[in-house]
Amino acid sequence: MKGLILSGGKGTRLWPLTFTSAKQLIPVANKPVLFRVIEAIRDAGITDIGIVVGDTANDIKQAVRRGNKWGVDITYIQQDAPLGLAHAVKVSQEFLGDDRFVMFLGDNVIEGGISPLIRQFADSDWNSQIVLTEVAQPEQYGVAELDDKSQIIRLIEKPKVPPSNLALVGIYMFDHHVFEAVDAIKPSWRGELEITDAIQWLVENQFRVFPYIHRGWWIDTGRPGDMLDANSMVLEELTPDVAGYVDRDSEVDRRVTIEKGAEIINSIVRGPTIIGENTRIVNSYIGPFTSIGPDCLIQDSEIEHSIVLENSTLDALPARVQDSLIGRHVTLARSPMRPKALKLTLGDYSQVGLL
Ligand code: G1P
Repeated sequence: MKGLILSGGKGTRLWPLTFTSAKQLIPVANKPVLFRVIEAIRDAGITDIGIVVGDTANDIKQAVRRGNKWGVDITYIQQDAPLGLAHAVKVSQEFLGDDRFVMFLGDNVIEGGISPLIRQFADSDWNSQIVLTEVAQPEQYGVAELDDKSQIIRLIEKPKVPPSNLALVGIYMFDHHVFEAVDAIKPSWRGELEITDAIQWLVENQFRVFPYIHRGWWIDTGRPGDMLDANSMVLEELTPDVAGYVDRDSEVDRRVTIEKGAEIINSIVRGPTIIGENTRIVNSYIGPFTSIGPDCLIQDSEIEHSIVLENSTLDALPARVQDSLIGRHVTLARSPMRPKALKLTLGDYSQVGLL
């Protein structure tokens, strides 16, 4: 089997972070979401992986390269315009050939691995397998209607009146018949070739499409709140490891990972939390569900339920930072100079919540 990861898109809902980085490269628990996707596919025994890239192709290529780091072989496939998930399959036809494949959206995070699922499909003669999960707002997703034997009756993309609460998760398995389907369908109201319509075409044309119901958590990381949720979930799954230094005046609980070269000085760190390589935490409180990236300094400050990316500084903050997403090379510090005022240099589309 082959793997196909979709990693295009502009990430507008994550501005300004996505001005300088592809959205799939924003880390949760200090590892980019895209790397987690590559690992999930590799752990299922698939090493021949195509990545469909768009405007952010250079970022993705620089971060992933040929895939040696994971022992996989990466092929990049350029999609010239974001014309839909089914269009991404179409442009990947040459790479995929007649192989069965798993397609994974590069910004999705899912609990546990996908190995059993992929094995099940690899060993079957099914034409497609889809993954469904119960969601609170099905109208925001592709939705499946199943009969009482759990067979698919129909699939609809973002229905106004959803026939069920079972959404299509961003993991799909196909054989080469999907190319007939993507050639047969027409663009949707949003001008995209929808993978949901392609699968519906397979169902209507008597191809064998089977659903798998995922019972754990699954997050499509489109918005800042989703990133924080994914971060919390992944931190809870991490096996804690302390490779850095903790001084005698600090209190660090069992669910904390401290990467090598990091230092915790006179501070309290409550897990689940990760502190990145060479980061210094001094006279501070780091609360649960926080990921501090590498090469940061947190001094005389308090932070929880947040993500801080590399090379950032939080210094002498007068209030606790919470529910925040802080980019690379950000400085957030109390300013001793008069006049006493907020002095801000914010990038376009920054959002600041003051007390
Ligand atoms: C896409 C699919 C949708 C699926 C969702 C999962 O939606 O079209 O069927 O449920 O991914 O993340 P989009 O993110 O393009 O709105």
